[in-house]
Amino acid sequence: AGGRPQGRHVAAIDQGTTSSRCIVFDADGAIVAVEQQEHRQIFPQPGWVEHDAGEIWTRVRSVVTQAMRRAGIGPAELSAIGITNQRETTLLWDRRTGEPVHNAIVWQDTRTEALCRELGRNVGKDRFRRETGLPLASYFAGPKIRWLLDNVDGLRGRAEAGELMFGTMDSWLIWNLTGGVDGGVHVTDVTNASRTMLMNLHTLEWDERLLESFAVPASLLPEIRSSAEVYGYAVGELAGVPVASALGDQQAALFGQTCFDEGEAKSTYGTGTFLLLNTGEKAVNSYHGLLTTVGYRIGDRKPVYALEGSIAVTGSLVQWLRDQLGLISTAAEIEELASTVQDNGGAYIVPAFSGLFAPYWRSDARGVITGLTGYVNKGHLARAVLEATAWQTREVVDAMAKDSGVTLSSLKVDGGMTANDLLMQIISDVLDAPVERPLVAETTALGAAYAAGLAVGFWPDLDALRANWHRGAEWTPRMGAQERAREQRNWLKAVERTKGWID
Ligand code: G3P
Repeated sequence: AGGRPQGRHVAAIDQGTTSSRCIVFDADGAIVAVEQQEHRQIFPQPGWVEHDAGEIWTRVRSVVTQAMRRAGIGPAELSAIGITNQRETTLLWDRRTGEPVHNAIVWQDTRTEALCRELGRNVGKDRFRRETGLPLASYFAGPKIRWLLDNVDGLRGRAEAGELMFGTMDSWLIWNLTGGVDGGVHVTDVTNASRTMLMNLHTLEWDERLLESFAVPASLLPEIRSSAEVYGYAVGELAGVPVASALGDQQAALFGQTCFDEGEAKSTYGTGTFLLLNTGEKAVNSYHGLLTTVGYRIGDRKPVYALEGSIAVTGSLVQWLRDQLGLISTAAEIEELASTVQDNGGAYIVPAFSGLFAPYWRSDARGVITGLTGYVNKGHLARAVLEATAWQTREVVDAMAKDSGVTLSSLKVDGGMTANDLLMQIISDVLDAPVERPLVAETTALGAAYAAGLAVGFWPDLDALRANWHRGAEWTPRMGAQERAREQRNWLKAVERTKGWID
C-alpha cells in the first residue's frame, strides 16, 4: 500500500441475500466488532426476487461506519478492507449518474427459465458446461443481463451506446467505495465472474462466443481481477483504505475455513446451502449435477478450482415458516418446535421454491409437502424443514463422491443455521459422518478479511491463516442404517413429485 502505515485490523463487508454485515477482525482472526442490517426482499411475481441496490449501498455504508465506531478505530487503523457477496445477483447501472437502471435480479429469481430452456433447445442444458463449468439455469448472471436488456425499455440501446455498467454486488460495492462516478474502479474477481456464464473457466477471461450467445455487449463488463489484490483505495469515511479482496460468499467461506488443500471441503448453511470441495489447480468436470467454479486466486498465483453443490433453499425455508406461515416467531424457535416430536410423523418438505438446484437443475420443479395425514402437527413440519436441509446436503455429498472419488471423512460447516444443534445432529445422522463447526463460525467474512490481509502483507502466508482455525463443536452419527435407508427412500419419492410442475 505504497508506504501507508499498517493498521492493526482488517475489515470485511459481507453483502448477503438478506442482510449486509461489516466485521472488523484482529491479527488472530478474532472478531472485534460486527454490525448487520437487513434489506427488503421484493417479490413482484411468483418466482421473481429483486433487491434495491441503492438500499443495499446505504446499508453497507451504515454498517461499516457503525462497526468502525464500535471497534473504536478510524480508517488509519485498518490495513485493508475486503468484500464478499451474494453471488449471481445482477445489476445494471448508469455509468454517468451512478443510478441503478432497474432493481437487481436476485440469484433465486426464476424469470429466465424460458430463456434458458430456449438456449438449451436441441443441445440440452450442458451446452456451455465445458467453457463455464455451469449448466444452463436461471440461477446465473448471464441470462439475467439478457433478460434486462430484452425486457426493460431502452436498455439495449443504452448498453450498446456504452452508457451502462454491469456488476454483481462485489463490483457495485467496489465501484462505489472507490469513488463511484468520480473515478470508481469497475472490476470483479474471478470467483464472481465464474458465476456469470460469460467467463471462460480456463482462460479466466470474458468469452466472445458466450457474450454473443447471451447477446451481452462487452462494454458493460467489469475487468476480471484476482480475489486478493489492491483494486483501489476507498474514498469518504474509509478514505485511503486499500480495497483488497473480493470473493463470492461461498468461495470466501471455503477460504475462511482454510480449505487450502485439494480434497478439503466446507458447507455453509445460510439462505441456501453451498458445499464446496477444493480440487486444487484442476477444474474437475462434473457428470453428477455439480458446478465447476473458481475457488479463489491470490494475486498472480495459479487459480484454485472447486466443485460446488448448490442448494437454493435451506435457511429461507425456515424464514418462510416464520414469515409466510407464522408457525414460529423467530428463526431460532424452529429448534424448540422440532424438538417437541421424535420424528417427522411421515411428512416431507421439498422446498423447490426456485426450482431444484444441485444435483438436478430442474427449473420446472416447485415445492411439495408430502405424506400428510391428520396425525401431522406443526412440530412434525418443523422437523421436516430441518430434515430437508440434511437430505439436500446428502444428495450433494453423494454427487461429490461420484465426481471426485473423494469420500468425505467429516464435514466442516458454518453459517447462521449451524447455531441449531438439532439440525447439526440430523445432518450428521443423514450423512453418516461427523460434522465439525469452527470456533469462529463467521467464516465468510473471515475469508474476505484473510484475502485482503494477504494482499497487503497483514498476514504473511496461508500457514499463518491455518493456525487460526480451531474446532468449536462436533457431532457424530446416531441413526441406524435401516432407518437412514427408509428415510432416504421417502425423501427421494418426495423429490420426484416436485418435477415437471411448470410446463
Ligand atoms: O449463490 C448464492 C449465494 O452466494 C448466496 O449466499 O449466504 O447470501 O444465501 P447467501
